[in-house]
Amino acid sequence: MDKFLFGVATAATQIEGGYNQDGKGLTIWDDYSAKGLIQNGATCFRACDSYNRLEEDLAYLEKLGVNSYRFSIAWSRIQPKGYGEINPKGIEYYNRLIDGLLERGIKPMVTLFHWDLPLGLSEKGGFANREIVDHFREYAKIVAENFGDRVELFSIFNEAQALIDFLFLRPVGDGYPPFSTQKTFEGIHNLLLANAAATYALREYSKNKVQVGMVNCTHCYIPTEDGIEDVIRKEMFKPNDTLFCNTTFWDPVFFGKYDEELIKKQGVDLSFIKDGEMEYIKCVPDFLGLNIYIGYKVKLGADGKLVPTTPDINSNFGDMWGDYMNTADAMYYGPKYMQERYGKPVYITENGCTLSEFLIDGKVEDQVRGEYIRRYLTRLIEAKDEGLDIRGYYAWSLMDNFEWSSGFTRRFGLIYVDFETCERTPKSSFYKYQELIRSYRKAK
Ligand code: BGC
Repeated sequence: MDKFLFGVATAATQIEGGYNQDGKGLTIWDDYSAKGLIQNGATCFRACDSYNRLEEDLAYLEKLGVNSYRFSIAWSRIQPKGYGEINPKGIEYYNRLIDGLLERGIKPMVTLFHWDLPLGLSEKGGFANREIVDHFREYAKIVAENFGDRVELFSIFNEAQALIDFLFLRPVGDGYPPFSTQKTFEGIHNLLLANAAATYALREYSKNKVQVGMVNCTHCYIPTEDGIEDVIRKEMFKPNDTLFCNTTFWDPVFFGKYDEELIKKQGVDLSFIKDGEMEYIKCVPDFLGLNIYIGYKVKLGADGKLVPTTPDINSNFGDMWGDYMNTADAMYYGPKYMQERYGKPVYITENGCTLSEFLIDGKVEDQVRGEYIRRYLTRLIEAKDEGLDIRGYYAWSLMDNFEWSSGFTRRFGLIYVDFETCERTPKSSFYKYQELIRSYRKAK
């Protein structure tokens, strides 16, 4: 258990604030905020102000007792426009963060891109413009040269599905018209070229021998009766009615080809792909980063198809629909089926829940979250003990934060944040996770 990573995760836009401080360039989220497209007119401008409270947040990480921290670098802090000039203050900030972690025995896992497209590149078409591939390679090279001597774990994109969804298909706050399926797919292709370019650059220019992975949300079925695992294996890797199934991003990076069934179903014309590009996209990530918040329990229906048995409760908590307290088996079946198909070590890069919760007399009693983490983490460790190659777990999130287009209406943190003052208060789940980490690290 010594090497198992007990971590916690965040993303730059969600916690940093300092949106135009010390030379940082603007991102699409700054733009959406300025245009009033975020729920309740919220903005990400200050978020949790972590940019100015780095020491305080490092101290909380140390207190929590994690041995890894997954955070993202804001591209626009490193290169304000997303290309060209480098901002030394941005490099300095992440140096302080990385050094602060290492001094505390906390291993960084660095995400290169957690949805915060620099506005300078958005204005050039973002992922719809193939030019982004070269810019992204350049950014990854800068990251490798500046941080690759101390960071060993990198992942490129966080949840490409979600990114493509809000960039092309369901624009934030209806801020601009959606793209066609064909154009969206061309965007997916550019993103995968960028993913490969950055993976190769990190491997080539980092001093460390780095592990570069990919992080995606994982749609995961849980069998509730014997004898249906083979049906599940098929269903988990079959296209659904959207562009997003488990194969959309994983198949090309491992097998160098798109899921043919998906392409057929969506009527995408692949003639835009140039010779050699699929081979290039096949960069074979070193690990599978799985964001799993919930699983879907299923049984076999009379027609031989899977039928959900998970009741649709809790739908009042936005995305957290379903009986998420009772689907911790996703921590076993998700890694199992993904590993069978793609054959790489797994990190659970995000797992968490949002609740209705209150600060009462200086305390937040979120026992439900503590119990949720206990259930998922325990099941994950059992899965590891049963022989799956699982290397770590990251709770989402260290603190309540800017929840994208939902603004500040949903809390996922182990630390409560007062969004008026940015004051932090560890919740009871913080202490629960702390206790779990201690006992697991002591046990082995
Ligand atoms: C994202 C996070 C987000 C979380 C909760 C994940 O899909 O990576 O940025 O805050 O879900 O919605």
